[in-house]
Amino acid sequence: MRWLLKFWDSTVGKKVVMGVTGIGLMAFLLVHMAGNLQMFLGADAMRRYAELLRTSEELLWVARLGLIGMAVLHIVAALQLTAINAKARPEGYARKVPQVSTLASRTMRLGGILLAAFIVYHLGHLTLGWFHPALVHLQPYGNVIIGFRSPLVVAFYVVAMFFLGLHLFHGAWAGFRTLGLAKRSAEPLQRAFALWFAVIVSAGFALIPIAVYLGILA
Ligand code: HEM
Repeated sequence: MRWLLKFWDSTVGKKVVMGVTGIGLMAFLLVHMAGNLQMFLGADAMRRYAELLRTSEELLWVARLGLIGMAVLHIVAALQLTAINAKARPEGYARKVPQVSTLASRTMRLGGILLAAFIVYHLGHLTLGWFHPALVHLQPYGNVIIGFRSPLVVAFYVVAMFFLGLHLFHGAWAGFRTLGLAKRSAEPLQRAFALWFAVIVSAGFALIPIAVYLGILA
């Protein structure tokens, strides 16, 4: 137990926790995105999928708790690493000229905060119905169609998915490096994987609100 606390207390330990939980969250996103694309197969396919997820209420809660645990560890490690960085350089740079950073790496914190806000809104929207005009339990197809009637909601989802893409691109690549799965900073294979993963997942998610907005899904 003590070695675990010592590991968590180190900067490397927090980065490893971010990498491992990041991979778990990536797996969830891929499965959720693929599940959502069943919207194009119709209302029955979506209902069967929702029922399948609820085959065992106990298993569903194990998965939910695992997901919550991973998200909390990922966010707490990110906040603590940010605090450690700020302590190491309290003055900031006199003149900051980004050398090898990308738009993705520079928006990790802003994107992370927006994603956290998105998740709270999304759960209140399509799972709990707080921000939904007419949520019906186990009717995900209709819930999604009605949920995206407002262009403002569609726009919020699309912007959030853009930031999700940036976050995934930098996060997947940085995570691979931390875990030693990519050796050099410009490892082309892992960068290509991170890029494709980010594009496929964020575009796959964004497709649903856009298709509802355009009337392709109705
Ligand atoms: C446009 C994109 C998305 C659509 C259309 C969508 C759709 C849905 C729907 C319909 C549900 C309810 C499922 C049910 O109760 O049967 C749901 C639940 C959920 N979504 Fe999404 N989702 C999207 C993006 C995301 C993203 C990007 C994340 C994470 C960052 C996410 C995380 C979740 C979580 C955690 C749940 C709750 C699962 C549960 O515990 O029941 N979703 N989503």
